[in-house]
Amino acid sequence: MPYLKPEQPEKVTAPSLKASKARGERMVCLTAYDYPTARIVDEAGIDIILVGDSLGNVVLGYGNTVPVTLDDILIHVKAVRRGVQRALLVADMPYGSFHTGADDTVRAALRLVKESGAEAVKLVNEEISGMGHIGLTPQLINQLGAYRVKGKTADAARKLLDDAYALEEAGAFAIVLELVPREIAELITNSIHIPTIGIGAGVHCDIQVLVFHDLLGMAFGKLPRFVREYANLRETITDAVTRWAEDVRNGSYPSEQESYGLPADAAAELKIEIKKVRSRKKAQKAGSKRSVALGSDSFY
Ligand code: KIV
Repeated sequence: MPYLKPEQPEKVTAPSLKASKARGERMVCLTAYDYPTARIVDEAGIDIILVGDSLGNVVLGYGNTVPVTLDDILIHVKAVRRGVQRALLVADMPYGSFHTGADDTVRAALRLVKESGAEAVKLVNEEISGMGHIGLTPQLINQLGAYRVKGKTADAARKLLDDAYALEEAGAFAIVLELVPREIAELITNSIHIPTIGIGAGVHCDIQVLVFHDLLGMAFGKLPRFVREYANLRETITDAVTRWAEDVRNGSYPSEQESYGLPADAAAELKIEIKKVRSRKKAQKAGSKRSVALGSDSFY
C-alpha cells in the first residue's frame, strides 16, 4: 500500500496527539535507535519515534530489556535527536531508573530531556510529558516468567481499564497497550481521552507501534504473531555482504572504476623511479655478495 502522508506535516507534540485522537485520526509510532534510521522514519512521516528499551533486544544483543541502562538510552536518544524534526521524540525509562523513589525518577527523566533532547518519556508523571505502558511490560520479564497476552480474564481486563484510567488521571499523554486482547484495547480506547498506542492489541487503538527491526525483518528468533514483516532486510544485508566478500576474494572488487589512477605523466615518472630503485638494489646485493666471499677467503 502506498504511504499515506500525514494530514498535518507540522511538528507533532504531546497535546497535538490528543487533538488528533479527538478528530478520529489514526497515527503511527515506530522505534528508532540511531541517526540514519531516525531520519528515514521521520522523513517517512511517522508521528512518534520511541527510543524504546527494546534497544536491549534488537541492537545491544541482550536477551531482554532488563540490562539496558539510563546511559544506554541517553546515548541512543542523542543520536536519534539529530535525525528527527517532525515526530514527537519519546525516550523509554529503562528498568531500574524509576524504582528508587520519585526524586530519582524525575532526575532520570530530566536527564533524558535535558541531555539527550527527548520531548517526552515513557512511564513517569511529572512536569515532563509522560507516556504510560500497560499490558505486557517486557521490563518485568523476571517476575512474569514469559511473554503472554495480558487481560484474558474479566478481572485482569478490569485491572487494565483501571490502570488506564489511573494513568490518564495522573496526566499521561498516551498509553501503550502491549499484548492485550483487541476487545479490551477497544474498550480502553473508547473509555479514555488520551491516545492508546497498540502493539499486539488489535486495530482499535488510536496509534500503532512496532519495533523497527521486527517490521523490516532484521530481528533474530521467533517473532510474535502481531508482527507483520514488510521487508526481509536481514536476507538483503546477508546477500550484499556475502557478494561483496566474494568479490574481494576473487579480485573483482575494487575495479578500476572503483579506484583512482595516476595521470599519464606521473605514471611515466614513477616507472623511471621504480627502475632506478631496482637497479640500486641489484647493485647493493652484488656488493654484499662480494664482501661475504672475500671474508671467507681470508678466514681459510
Ligand atoms: O521498548 C519498546 O520498544 C517499547 C515498544 C514495544 C512499545 O516499549
